[in-house]
Amino acid sequence: MTDRYCVFGNPISHSKSPVIHAAFAEQTGDDIEYAAIAAPLDDFAGAWRGFTAEGGRGANVTVPFKEEAFRLCDVLSQRARRAGAVNTLVLGKNGLTYGDTTDGIGLVRDLERHGMALAEARILILGAGGAVRGVLEPLLAAGPASLMIANRTASKAEALAADFGDMGTTRGGGFDAVAGPFDLVINGTSASLAGDLPPLPDDLFAAGATAYDMMYGAEPTVFLRWADERGACTVDGLGMLVEQAAESFFQWRGRRPDTGPVLEALRQSL
Ligand code: ATR
Repeated sequence: MTDRYCVFGNPISHSKSPVIHAAFAEQTGDDIEYAAIAAPLDDFAGAWRGFTAEGGRGANVTVPFKEEAFRLCDVLSQRARRAGAVNTLVLGKNGLTYGDTTDGIGLVRDLERHGMALAEARILILGAGGAVRGVLEPLLAAGPASLMIANRTASKAEALAADFGDMGTTRGGGFDAVAGPFDLVINGTSASLAGDLPPLPDDLFAAGATAYDMMYGAEPTVFLRWADERGACTVDGLGMLVEQAAESFFQWRGRRPDTGPVLEALRQSL
């Protein structure tokens, strides 16, 4: 019988997850169906219950339901607990709902695929919202020399750094407190959406540094153009999207798809 999965969001029609998971399933030979479902804004739990009652085995969760998904889980992974959010739901054979967040491991795997050595790296991450909180656990677990969180609202960056202080040298502040050089600068703000650039000093990048934008598009973001002009290697977030999906797929199916060809095809379609 075909196993059913989906991605929940609202809105959801733009989601690339159905295409990615269909490509994974074709590769591994798994017989699955993967749909995009717009859950009602006021009843995410009902949408998940309804889906599982009709044979759904697991789901991805995106904006604006990641925190609500976190709250309904019976069992949470360590990284989901630290993120306070869930992007992967798994219905256990015992009927319990398991929650994980694969965004951070997706980011780490994409960085590693680009040859980035995270251990001992000096990392700056821009933003202190849900997207940044969601990736901090795997990033810090990779053992960087230091991690600074900089945000427009400095107090949010300070609070987030304090929350993760037990995992390594983390520091939080406003953009004016940023002092390089850094080996890796990650843009986790939504500023790119508005075509904005956080105000940053020119001497941010160490030699051979990488600039990573968690956003992606047909054209490089303002942040990546800015970083390219200052000599950094630039990477957008499309690979993170594919890698986080691969980790979800692994949790549901026990098989790891080859992400390279799927990412390449997706890049062509942008
Ligand atoms: P997400 O789930 O994408 O993280 P969020 O929780 O709303 O969304 O967080 C958005 C992040 O982008 C925040 O860090 C926000 O900064 P503030 O905390 O000061 O609001 C940041 N952000 C959004 N627009 C920005 C802009 N134009 N310049 C700089 N930072 C911006």
